[in-house]
Amino acid sequence: MSRSRAPRLTPLGPSIALATPGAIADAARLIRAGRLVGFPTETVYGLGANALSAAAVQRVFRAKGRPRSDPLIVHLASAEELPRVTRSVPDAARHLAGAHWPGPLTLVLPRAEAVPAIVSAGRETVAVRVPAHPVAIALLAAADRPIAAPSANRYGHVSPTSAVHVADDLGHRVDLILDGGPTDVGIESTVLDLTADPPEILRLGGVTFEMLRLSLPNVVQRVLASQDARSPGTAMRHYAPRARVLLFPDGADGWRRALATARDIAGRCESIAVLGPDRLIEEAPHGTLLLSWGASDDAEIARRLFALLRRADSEGVDSIVAVLPPPGGLRDAVRDRLTRAASGRVIASDLT
Ligand code: TXA
Ligand code: MG
Repeated sequence: MSRSRAPRLTPLGPSIALATPGAIADAARLIRAGRLVGFPTETVYGLGANALSAAAVQRVFRAKGRPRSDPLIVHLASAEELPRVTRSVPDAARHLAGAHWPGPLTLVLPRAEAVPAIVSAGRETVAVRVPAHPVAIALLAAADRPIAAPSANRYGHVSPTSAVHVADDLGHRVDLILDGGPTDVGIESTVLDLTADPPEILRLGGVTFEMLRLSLPNVVQRVLASQDARSPGTAMRHYAPRARVLLFPDGADGWRRALATARDIAGRCESIAVLGPDRLIEEAPHGTLLLSWGASDDAEIARRLFALLRRADSEGVDSIVAVLPPPGGLRDAVRDRLTRAASGRVIASDLT
C-alpha cells in the first residue's frame, strides 16, 4: 500500500490556537469543565481555571509546581462582578476600579465564601483584577466564571509574554493556549492590599506607585523582603532565568563595572549576555549576546524585559550581566524584577 502523505503523527507540541472566536468558545468550555487554559492579558499570559472550583484550581498549582501557600489572582470580566468573589467592596476599591480597571492593578479584598480557600491559600482575602485584553475579557464573558490565573510559567521562572513562552514552560500541562500575540505591558499587575491599613503595595507592576498615590495619598510600599508571609509570591529568587544574573547599579560607575565584568567573563570564553539600554550594549565585548531594551522608553523596557531574559536561556547563556534602569515610574517595577532575577543581589560599584 502506498501512501501519498506522511503518516499522521501524535502531536508532540501543546495545543496553541490563534485566539479566534471559535477558539475562545472552546477555551470557555474547557474552563467550565474544570480544565486549564493559557490566555493573554495585557500584562503577561495567565494559566486560567474556574476560580469557583477547588478541583480546577488544584490543577493550576500542580501544573505550575507552585506551593499551595502562594495565593492566586482571580480575574473578572468587569468590576460589577466583584460581589461574586468578595465579601464587601470598600469605597477605595470602587474608586480604584473606576480609575484603573480594566488594567494592571490587582486589589486584595475580603474573600467571599463562594471562592474556595485554596485560591487564596487559606487566607480570608482574595486578590482580584479586571484585565485589559480583549481575549481575556471575551474568555471571561464566554466562560461566565471568575478565572483564577497566576502567570503561566513554571514556579519561580520568568513570566510568559507570548503563547510560545507558555508552551515552553508548561507544554502538555495546559489543555489549550490561546495565542493573542505578545503582551503589551510585559510585567505583571501591581498588587495592592486594601485590607491593610494604610493600604499597602505588595508587588509593583503595571500601575506605578506615583499613579496610585494620586487617588490613595496614604498608600505605602512594601520594601523588598526576602520572604513575606502576606504575599508569598514575592520570594527573593523569582522571575529568574536559568542563567546567573550579575546585576549592577544604574549610573556611570555601575556601567563601567558591568562592562569590565562582561569583558572578564568573555575573556574566559564563557558564554555571556549583556542586558541594558542601547548605549550600554554598544560597548559590550565581542562575542556577547546583546539584549537591548531600547533607548529609554519605560514602557518599552517593561515590554521587552522578560522576553530578553528568556532569550538568554534559549541561547544557552551561562551569565547575564545587567544594569538597573534609574528609579521612578514603571522602571521601579523593572528594577524589582531584575533584582529578584539576581536573587536580590546588586553588585556595588567599587570604581569611583
Ligand atoms: O499581571 C498579573 O498579575 C498576572 C496576570 C495573569 O493577571 N498574574 C500574576 O499572578 O502575576 P501570579 O500568581 O504570578 O502573582 C500573583 C501575586 C503573587 O505575588 C501572590 O502572592 C499575590 O499576587 N497574591 C495573590 N493573592 C493574594 C492575597 N490574597 N493576598 C496577598 N497576596 C496575594
Ligand atoms: Mg507569577
